[in-house]
Amino acid sequence: MAKSLDSVPLSGIIRIRDLMYTIKDPYRLDQGDVSFDAPASVKDAMVRAIADNRTHYVQTAGIPPLLQLLAEKLRSRNGIPVSGPDEVMVTTGGIHAIFMVCQALLEPADEIIVPDPTWPPTVSNILAAHAVPARCPIHERLGWRYDLDELAAAITPRTRAIYINSPHNPTGGVLTRADLERIAALAERHNLWVVSDEAYEDVVFDGGQHVSIASLPGMYDRTVPIYTFSKSYAMTGLRLGYTACNNRTLRDRMKKVLFLTASNIASVVQYGGVGALEGSQEVVEQFRSELEARRTLFYDGVRDLNGVLTGTPPKGAFYAFLEIDPAWRPEEPSVDPSIRDSISWQMVEHLVRRGRIGCVPGADFGPAGEGYVRFCFARERKELKGALDSMKALFTARAALHPL
Ligand SMILES: Cc1ncc(COP(=O)(O)O)c(C=O)c1O
Repeated sequence: MAKSLDSVPLSGIIRIRDLMYTIKDPYRLDQGDVSFDAPASVKDAMVRAIADNRTHYVQTAGIPPLLQLLAEKLRSRNGIPVSGPDEVMVTTGGIHAIFMVCQALLEPADEIIVPDPTWPPTVSNILAAHAVPARCPIHERLGWRYDLDELAAAITPRTRAIYINSPHNPTGGVLTRADLERIAALAERHNLWVVSDEAYEDVVFDGGQHVSIASLPGMYDRTVPIYTFSKSYAMTGLRLGYTACNNRTLRDRMKKVLFLTASNIASVVQYGGVGALEGSQEVVEQFRSELEARRTLFYDGVRDLNGVLTGTPPKGAFYAFLEIDPAWRPEEPSVDPSIRDSISWQMVEHLVRRGRIGCVPGADFGPAGEGYVRFCFARERKELKGALDSMKALFTARAALHPL
């Protein structure tokens, strides 16, 4: 990749993470990490694996017991007609699976449609494969879903694939079954692949059900679904994800990328994955319902912010993607001239420096994200309350300074 990597952006999330380390007693609502710890089923399995000296090289695609459990999970929980463990590959988190599929599927200059806004590493991975991310807006008025006519119009002769991410980072939008059926019909009509990033499959609110597009009739043949243990089992730092593919050519290519980038995924962590799937699944529901309560807590607090930040509670994932009042201006211009044209970067700078609150500018997720800020509400309730109090103090002081 060499020189072409110079034009592949590193997410602003990294820049903010660095900035947060300079702040004393910060509220870390910037990163998409849950405050929960991995369940005992995971930790015990890893401790056992170490005691049993499971510290050697293992199979490139994954250890057989994990692949077997994943094939069963994909069939029973996701409804995907995976024919066996041979179709499953374990990866270093979901991000690695996205890298693998981009490298294995996309030719230089191929277009892949992505939502705008979208999680930044998706775009970077597409660029790293010398392909073209074609941004198609999702709309707040539609619950952060596509206008499907717009999506259809975004397809060109160069389009190779559609990347979807439901529940969605950064907006929390969830595609309906009808949306997925229409996207499936488009993919079939135009002979496209679908890369379906289902990292937040277990974080759906208000009684909603996650649907994998790969479970729709015939769609597994043209879909690469991507999953992770990070969010469902609070295993973000352990780096365990997986994908499945029934197309032999694509799978063999992905396996080569897997081997060349990792040889195999950390053996002990894979045993942790076995523990997660063999252990009680109640923990997944406990995490989900606590996240739902935190969503309520956070949005109740947002209502007290003088209208400076507003939004509707999302249907999934664990982010509040809030619109900034277009009339808002920082009390002093930013010291960094590169962000003076971006209201979302200025808001983030204000919240970080004045309020000690980590958050991510909407602009980082794409042009349609400008004017918004993303907060992660998967943090402890105490931390969320602290951040809300801090924001309230900032925006109430502003109201006093500039009475309407
Ligand atoms: C949309 C989306 N996809 C994939 C991932 C990958 O997560 P991980 O690499 O930790 O599995 C994330 C993580 O934040 C995400 O937000």
